[in-house]
Amino acid sequence: MEVIIRPDKESACQLACDLIFDAIALDPKIVLGLATGGTMENLYARLSKKINLAGLNLDTVRTFNLDEYIGLSPTHSGSYRSYMEKHFFSQVSIKTQNTFLPRGDALDVEQECLDYEKLIKKAGGIDLQLLGLGQIGHIGFNEPLSSLASRTRAKSLTPETRKQNAQYFGGEANVPKRAITVGVGTILESTRALMLVTGRSKAEILAKSVEGPVTSLISATALQLHPKCMVIVDEAAAAKLVNQEYYRWVFENEPEWERYR
Ligand code: PGA
Repeated sequence: MEVIIRPDKESACQLACDLIFDAIALDPKIVLGLATGGTMENLYARLSKKINLAGLNLDTVRTFNLDEYIGLSPTHSGSYRSYMEKHFFSQVSIKTQNTFLPRGDALDVEQECLDYEKLIKKAGGIDLQLLGLGQIGHIGFNEPLSSLASRTRAKSLTPETRKQNAQYFGGEANVPKRAITVGVGTILESTRALMLVTGRSKAEILAKSVEGPVTSLISATALQLHPKCMVIVDEAAAAKLVNQEYYRWVFENEPEWERYR
């Protein structure tokens, strides 16, 4: 795992944007794992602008989102399909048939989960998995006690997660209680993972996720087992990390990061 600390939210989002852009430019057939949430809105705005300015072709790019609320149709304003359409898919020229999310309104949820795993496998697996970090340390909707070997399945959402997302539903009572999420095991199989975390409110949970013991209570700690995971944060989110100076030293000295410094 590498932790990259940028001075502020804007430069953290820009670095994540540059890395994803370069990954697409290098491999036009890339399979991207995509995330939602407040943090990603800034990233998608930057990424779509950069893609359009450069005229980057997305015709052969495929995307798989991490999760979707159970019970919501793709056109529901609170669905993650709607989020993705609004913040990214409608902003760039990408083929809708190449963009995948679990169907929240599937009649057979269990089958939908199995099918989603098969689709990811058929696409050759996720090349680059984008991740946010929830207030309780979840990745996707892998809530506390999610098995670190879990696959795509239905999960009940914690009160904390529903509170965090209440703003998108006009109140906590309207937030769906369950969601389909790819599993921690599915995420760990991605070739590369990129977690983007900004803001002071994430400082404690980020430190636990990156420097604490691996535990199913905090699914993000499983990223310590990922063979190639980058964690991009701003100063505010990095505030509670014990080894900040070491992470900065690595970024300033590793040749791999030269073009991004
Ligand atoms: P946020 O969500 O970006 O809105 O904080 C992150 C998450 O819950 O994964």
